[in-house]
Amino acid sequence: MAQDIVNLNSQKPASSRKRQAIRILQVTDCHLHTDTEWKLAGINTQLSFEWVMSLAERHKAETDLLLLTGDLVHDASAIGYTRLKRYVEDFGIRACCLPGNHDKPDMLRTHMQGRLVETPKEIKLGNWLIVLLDSTLPHSEGGHLSDQELQTLDNALGNHPEHHVLIALHHHPIHINSAWMDKMALDNPAPFLSILNRHGNVKGVVWGHIHQTFDTELNGIKMMGTPSTCIQFIENQDKFGISTTPPGFRWLELLPDGRINTGIERIAELPPGLDLKTAGY
Ligand SMILES: [Fe+2]
Repeated sequence: MAQDIVNLNSQKPASSRKRQAIRILQVTDCHLHTDTEWKLAGINTQLSFEWVMSLAERHKAETDLLLLTGDLVHDASAIGYTRLKRYVEDFGIRACCLPGNHDKPDMLRTHMQGRLVETPKEIKLGNWLIVLLDSTLPHSEGGHLSDQELQTLDNALGNHPEHHVLIALHHHPIHINSAWMDKMALDNPAPFLSILNRHGNVKGVVWGHIHQTFDTELNGIKMMGTPSTCIQFIENQDKFGISTTPPGFRWLELLPDGRINTGIERIAELPPGLDLKTAGY
């Protein structure tokens, strides 16, 4: 049974309690598939995911949470989600998931439930609250926050004024200087940003979707886009283009005073087969 609010404070490892900082790994846009040999732009997405997770393994001892921010299974199949859940449970860190435009939210919520895997709307960790939003719009690559999601966010921020807040969603809520990708951004950023500005406790927003690194600050809030675990798109380019940059993940350290340290780690090289002539995805 899916739980909307998860309190992980009782489950924090001793090493983390001593540090009093919360360490998160954001892993996104895995584009896994029923078929483990399936390729996106020539790259085997299962293999690429496993290579990235091998790098993430080095952070395991100090990590409190894996945050999976959508486009997890490209064909939204039960087989794909079940394999991912098993992989993450074997990895051994608690994982929370939200859907992207290639997922089917109901399928994801049904199958990504288990001993260490769940799909909550809110996670409490130390004096931080993490809010997970569903920005998917049926049959659309672009994003939208429904009135219900905006209300969930408004309530969560209002109910926890003493908590620092990190928000996670799939779609980018601000443009990233890439016309083709910005057509698929969140289409109603105004009410979202207005809620953030009305409450003073949001310190950061993280998303996937853009398959590239993006870091900026807006009204004192860190705005962070994260590379995919498979193919990367060329940054600051108006037309679609695939980059040869290797895939990776983002680490985040949430400090008790509300500051966020963060960085990107990438594997040394892409798995073989990248097709730079791919016209779209
Ligand atoms: Fe994606």
